[in-house]
Amino acid sequence: MDINDLNKKFKNVKAEEILKYFFEKYGNKVALSSSFGVEDQVLTHMMLSLDKKMNIFTLDTARLHPQTYSVMDATNLKYGVKVNVFFPDTDDVEKLYQSQGINGFYESIQNRKACCFTRKIKPLQRALSSLDVWITGLRASQSITRQNLSLIEYDEVNKVIKVNPLLHWSEDEIWDFIKKYKVPYNSLHDEGFPSIGCAPCTRAVESGADVRSGRWWWENPEHKECGLHIK
Ligand code: ADX
Ligand code: SF4
Repeated sequence: MDINDLNKKFKNVKAEEILKYFFEKYGNKVALSSSFGVEDQVLTHMMLSLDKKMNIFTLDTARLHPQTYSVMDATNLKYGVKVNVFFPDTDDVEKLYQSQGINGFYESIQNRKACCFTRKIKPLQRALSSLDVWITGLRASQSITRQNLSLIEYDEVNKVIKVNPLLHWSEDEIWDFIKKYKVPYNSLHDEGFPSIGCAPCTRAVESGADVRSGRWWWENPEHKECGLHIK
């Protein structure tokens, strides 16, 4: 079935059903990438309630908040799994440090992109290289850069089908689900962090502010993607 047909097929279908379809069809060739943000926690709960064997991985950039490691631990314990972890290549991180120091990402967009490439993109490419289907927690209302996404896409760069089952969920729907099923979540969400990435590149925002305004806050909105989701 091509991507257009899949989008038609799943237009008004529940996220759980979409996950089930891909798991039944692709087994361990389908995986969720999780940052342990609240959307990914919703998907994690859905997936592990369907089957404990469903594949979930995280990209540990080695610059995450301690609270993110706490929710990772709480998630593994609650569901009796060990979410897969992809770390950056040590040689790459050492070279990055030699070229831009430890916090060089504040100096220029070029440095910031180099850091994201080393710590996130390259490990993501490694994770996706053995997969056919990539599930994400992207939502359209998170940013201007995400409004034109489709439920199902084809990622030409990584050669995988990309599925965004929560694309049309509102923030309220996400939180209702988390509360209803007592899903562990990152405590930073209670401290004004609607979107959580690496510690040095994420800060709290005023209530009601753009959800991604605390990410790379020193850059313009059109640059605010780390490259994980660029086509
Ligand atoms: S980012 O591109 O700005 O970092 P964001 O934090 O909004 O993305 O998360 C969007 C989706 O990207 C998540 O739902 C998840 O699927 C994926 N993602 C982001 N960060 C990570 C990470 N560190 N590990 C795995 N997946 C991630
Ligand atoms: Fe580096 Fe910041 Fe990108 Fe994390 S978000 S990989 S620390 S530039």
